[in-house]
Amino acid sequence: MDFDPPLASTYRSLLEGMDSSEDHVAEVEECELPLIDLARLSGGAAARERCMREIAVASSEWGFFQVVNHGVPAERFDRIRSVQLEAFRQPFESKVNEGFLDYSSESYRWGNPSATSLQQLSWSEAYHISTIPSPPPASPGTLRCTIEEYASSVSELAQKLGEILAEHLGCRRSYFEEVCSSSTSYLRLNRYPPCPAPSRVLGMIAHTDSAFLTILHQDKVGGLQLRKGERWVAVKPIPHSLVVNIGDLLEALSNVEFRSVEHRVMANREVERFSMAFFLCPSHDTVIESVRKPSVYRPFSFGEFQHQVQDDVRTEGYKVGLSR
Ligand code: SIN
Ligand code: FE2
Repeated sequence: MDFDPPLASTYRSLLEGMDSSEDHVAEVEECELPLIDLARLSGGAAARERCMREIAVASSEWGFFQVVNHGVPAERFDRIRSVQLEAFRQPFESKVNEGFLDYSSESYRWGNPSATSLQQLSWSEAYHISTIPSPPPASPGTLRCTIEEYASSVSELAQKLGEILAEHLGCRRSYFEEVCSSSTSYLRLNRYPPCPAPSRVLGMIAHTDSAFLTILHQDKVGGLQLRKGERWVAVKPIPHSLVVNIGDLLEALSNVEFRSVEHRVMANREVERFSMAFFLCPSHDTVIESVRKPSVYRPFSFGEFQHQVQDDVRTEGYKVGLSR
């Protein structure tokens, strides 16, 4: 059975034909990403205060942090993981066919459609899934029900973190709840297949996320790297934790106090890797206007922003286009 699209086979032949003597992946240092215990948010005032401060500091110094005791029940991870396996084990024809997972055919993507060279290619496949439950209600036990349950848990966590960040910025605590109510938030289920030449192609090319914030669950394989100053550093997977990162919209809202940091995923020769990301996004007509003045960004709507950003990847042109 053919799990990969024809385009993947073309790239695979190209990579397999390459000289493997040069095939080593540069080692990068593993970083100690701030690890934040969210249990303290329901503790005493001082513990809560400290936890909130750590979140704000990590958002500004790293743009990334990991959280434990985040409130997403462990069995939801197990269930969505089996949905993920089932979804990616389908033959290619089913993946692209309308109907699978009960979502539209546009939800599946292999690589990044705009890539015209190995440097621009992401050696991965993904399902993009809107998190607004669509009628009729999903029946218990179905794939869709599992996805919706998981989305609702991570969305709740995203809102909780959003309240903290909004308060820090001097916005209404309910800001994210209000602008994300008719949300364009989505889940992306990712699979990184083993790659014949991991030094020639990335699992996911370097990018920043076009969202307010992202909540990522990764398996234990590893491969996620982020920019820290001039260097790339690797994020060590910590069991039961979630990785949180600041997206472009929150960087703009905070006038770059919180930073949307470039990240990428390395390909792996032997092992396949799975991850899933929840992107907290507002409605299309939401205007993002920094609360801090004067602002590096001019006010822009999320619709306008999406129009300018191709394929989830911020270009230099985007930043120039929106900055004053
Ligand atoms: C992403 O950047 O959206 C995915 C990262 C990952 O798979 O670790
Ligand atoms: Fe990302």
